[in-house]
Amino acid sequence: MELNSQQQEVRRLLAERRAIMLAHNYQPAEIQDIADVVGDSLELSIKASKTEAEVIVFCGVHFMAETAAILCPDKTVLLPRLDVGCCLAESVKPAKLLARKAELPGVPVVTYVNSTAAVKAESDICCTSANAISVVNSLAAPRVLMIPDQNLALYCARHTSKEIEILTWEGWCNVHDGLSAEEVLEAKKAHPQAVFVAHPECNPEVVDLADFVRSTSGMLKFVQEEPAKEFIIGTEKGILHRMRKENPGKVFYSPSKRLICRPMKRITLTDVIAALKENRHQITVPEDIRVRALKAVERMLAVPRD
Ligand code: 13P
Ligand code: SF4
Repeated sequence: MELNSQQQEVRRLLAERRAIMLAHNYQPAEIQDIADVVGDSLELSIKASKTEAEVIVFCGVHFMAETAAILCPDKTVLLPRLDVGCCLAESVKPAKLLARKAELPGVPVVTYVNSTAAVKAESDICCTSANAISVVNSLAAPRVLMIPDQNLALYCARHTSKEIEILTWEGWCNVHDGLSAEEVLEAKKAHPQAVFVAHPECNPEVVDLADFVRSTSGMLKFVQEEPAKEFIIGTEKGILHRMRKENPGKVFYSPSKRLICRPMKRITLTDVIAALKENRHQITVPEDIRVRALKAVERMLAVPRD
C-alpha cells in the first residue's frame, strides 16, 4: 500500500521517537492503515503494556488512552486530541456512583471498560462486551450493579447462566442505541442473504433481530470464520474498513448512515503528527486512582472465558 506524505511523516516520527501507534477498530481508514496495531479497546491496552516502546500514540477515545495509562504507568501515552470523549463513559460521575453504592451495600459493581479511571477505581470488577457474561457468571453475589451501559446489562441478564439479579444504570451509547429495528429490517429486506451481527450496546429490539451478537473483536473473528458471504454489521462503521481488508471475498453492509462515532472520527493525521512532535496530549492517571482502577481491570483479566 502506498502511503501519502502525511502517513509517511507519521511513520518517520514514530521511528524517530521509538513510539508505537495503536488504533481502535472505529478509527478513520487512513489512521488504521498505518497503525502498528488495530484492535478493540482492551486488546490495545494489553498490547501497550507489553510493548518495548516508550511512547504510545493512542488513536481512540479518551477512556481508552486512560486504560492504557492504567496498565502502563511507566510509558508516555499520547492522545492526539482531547475532545474525544465517549458519551457512555461520561454518563457516570464518581459522586453519583458512590451515592448509588451507598444505597446498595454489599452489591458488587461491574463496570464496562467504557468508563473513566475514577469510576473504574470505585468498581469491583471491569468487563468488556467480549467477556461481560463470563464476568457476571464468575460472581457469587445474588445481585450486581452493572454500569454504565443499560443495553449491555440487559443483554447479560438474558444470557447469564447464574440466578443473579442485574441492576442497571441510565447510560447508553448514542451511536449503538440509535440504530432502529426499522433500519435493520430495511437492510435485511435489501440483502436477504446477509447475516446480521449486532453489538450488545444496541437496543434490545435490534439485538432481538440479530442472527449473532458479538463484541467488535468477536465480530472480526466471526466474519472470518463464518462461511456466509454477506453481512449486515450492527456497530460503528469504521470496523467495515478492516472487515473488507481482511475478507476480500465477502460483502459488508452498514444498516444505518448514523452508525458513526463522531469523537472517534475527529483524530486526523495532522493531529497525530503534532502529537508526536509536541508530545501532546499526555494522558496520566493519579496514582491512588490508577492502583484501584488497575485492581478492577486485573480481576476481570483473571476471569476464565465461558
Ligand atoms: P470494544 O470494547 O469492542 O473496543 O468497543 C468499544 C466501544 O466503544 C464499542 O462502542
Ligand atoms: Fe463510546 Fe459509543 Fe463511541 Fe463506542 S461508539 S466510543 S461506546 S460513543
